[in-house]
Amino acid sequence: MLIWRSFGSLVVALIAGVGALSAGPLQAAASGEEIIKARSSFMKDELQAQWRTLAAFGKGGAGSLAEIEKSAAILSDLAKKLPEHFPKDTGRGNYPDKLTTALPLIWTEAAEFQKANQNFAAETAKLVTLAKAGNKDAVVDMIGNTGSYNRTKIGCAECHQKFTGPRVRD
Ligand code: HEC
Repeated sequence: MLIWRSFGSLVVALIAGVGALSAGPLQAAASGEEIIKARSSFMKDELQAQWRTLAAFGKGGAGSLAEIEKSAAILSDLAKKLPEHFPKDTGRGNYPDKLTTALPLIWTEAAEFQKANQNFAAETAKLVTLAKAGNKDAVVDMIGNTGSYNRTKIGCAECHQKFTGPRVRD
């Protein structure tokens, strides 16, 4: 009796498995694109939005150290949400180069990617401390004066250099 029952549930599991497999590729394609779009918004609307406050300060001294402290704290906190935007294999190789610049290295060297994100969390936390202490020169040194997030010491640049490829246009 017990054998038959577990055999029965194995059959059910197998059928469910086949169903999931055949539905898989299409569903994965649709949700993968949504994931990439959401990731793009996360980078632009959340990270880059805070970066602008830092960039303006580093470039021309606009704003205040209190604002830097606040934006840096938000960024450091956003580092906690960053990894969830990178589910396995949602980058190039699986999706068109036009859609994403995320390199497969993100998943083949997952520990390095985590490290780059931890570096970002740590450096932005350091920026909070420097801003709080009123250390303007050190704050500007960390942010940089180019306005580019790919030339700052707060951690955006290291990750992009290693884990993103060149943008491809039509
Ligand atoms: C741990 C890695 C990592 C960190 C840290 C990081 N990024 Fe990114 N970012 C990426 C990856 C990977 C992509 C490519 C995503 C894609 O195309 O699918 C990206 C893409 C972007 C994009 C392009 C989005 C688009 O679709 O046009 C912007 C803008 C961006 N990041 C801003 C920032 C800023 C600003 C910071 C720092 C405040 C930052 N990022 C920190 C990994 C990171």
